[in-house]
Amino acid sequence: MKALEGVKILDFTHVQSGPTCTQLLAWLGADVIKVERPGEGDITRGQLRDIPDVDSLYFTMLNSNKRSITVDSKHAQGKEVLESLIQTCDVLVENFAPGALDRMGLTWERIQELNPRMVMASVKGFGPGPYEDCKVYENVAQCAGGSASTTGFDDGPPLVTGAQIGDSGTGLHLALGIVAALYQRNTTGRGQKVLAAMQDGVLNLCRVKLRDQQRLAHGPLREFPQFPDGEFGDAVPRAGNASGGGQPGWILKCKGWESDPNAYIYFITQAPVWKAICEVIGEPTWLTDPDYAKPAARLPRLKSIFARIEQWTMTKTKFEAMEELNRHDIPCGPILSMKEIAEDQSLRATGTVVEVDHPTRGKYLTVGNPIKMSDSATEVTRSPLLGEHTDEILRDVLRYDPDRIASIHQSGALGVKPRMAAE
Ligand code: COA
Repeated sequence: MKALEGVKILDFTHVQSGPTCTQLLAWLGADVIKVERPGEGDITRGQLRDIPDVDSLYFTMLNSNKRSITVDSKHAQGKEVLESLIQTCDVLVENFAPGALDRMGLTWERIQELNPRMVMASVKGFGPGPYEDCKVYENVAQCAGGSASTTGFDDGPPLVTGAQIGDSGTGLHLALGIVAALYQRNTTGRGQKVLAAMQDGVLNLCRVKLRDQQRLAHGPLREFPQFPDGEFGDAVPRAGNASGGGQPGWILKCKGWESDPNAYIYFITQAPVWKAICEVIGEPTWLTDPDYAKPAARLPRLKSIFARIEQWTMTKTKFEAMEELNRHDIPCGPILSMKEIAEDQSLRATGTVVEVDHPTRGKYLTVGNPIKMSDSATEVTRSPLLGEHTDEILRDVLRYDPDRIASIHQSGALGVKPRMAAE
């Protein structure tokens, strides 16, 4: 049994933010029925393709464990199918541009008429306000949510981060809202609307920076690289690789850095292990020297302290440094490349990196469920081909008889029947 067994999700999502949310719900056991436009489907099926005419990794890695039905939502009979699905499902998830669902005739009022128990969950770029009608992609959200202005080095432009905090981050927020709404429905019997705006999701993940904005009013941010020599303006500056927490940290070179762009380690000068740090790097006098002995005294000297520690890390590979530092409980982390992560056997063993077989693509790697539950195991299965389950859903979920299915096909509302690779 899985945690969300019995929950039916009408998945009207596309691109990344929505699909991450519904993929997670599928891993938790929900039956996720992905509705796609006939012929083309989710636009990501064809984006960033590495193999011609085969669903892209962009699509396959965001749509595991789902079923696909193709329905033209603007066709009268397509709308009929959608309305039947709304009556049958527990949750509708969508991340269309603002107003698109209303233009399909699926207003919240109509959805409630069809199924008062339905939870309707949406990702939008912005919440109510001046930008609510805007279309938004990942990096727009990173910029509007405070991430870009606080990422990068002080002497460079704002930077976006590789972690998809706007899309996948918001998908996670939405999934939590959906699960909570389903729980509340157990008491009230009613569904509700759940909204996760990408700007809000990014800001939630950037809350330490809003913390720093308020600290700034009371003086310079002493753990930032701008302290003590640089200038602070009236907004939180970019902090380079400084830690966002109370324990100063930085990225340091390791052996091989001249040729390997990832031969680096993140090193944290955690106060309780300062003695061990001084001993490991060979600076025992720092333990008693008033310039180094206490955390506050170290703050204006962080640059030279990290430069000295780097002299030590440069004599070790990142893995050797990791091993030695961890022997002393000194928090640190190797900068792992995606190649190293893909090859990491311990991530394979836990199901965090999974190999999946696909009928037209063959084997590919995907990221499995990062949430591990003791009584709800995740088995990652491949993404569906476009419309692969159209007939199955009409027959088994909507209980349509063969004549009705044939007549809907004839109407053109479902597009052409998909073909498997072997056909
Ligand atoms: N049958 C018929 N039409 C369909 C359909 C189907 N099964 N599925 C979608 N469509 C139509 C929609 O009705 C819409 O038509 P309309 O504009 O005439 O009403 C159209 O497809 C396009 O939808 P839209 O969401 O506007 O796609 P887009 O490619 O122009 O914009 C985004 C993409 C991501 C910018 C936009 O969807 C968005 O801002 N979403 C919210 C924020 C978000 O999730 N962004 C992150 C994406 S990772």
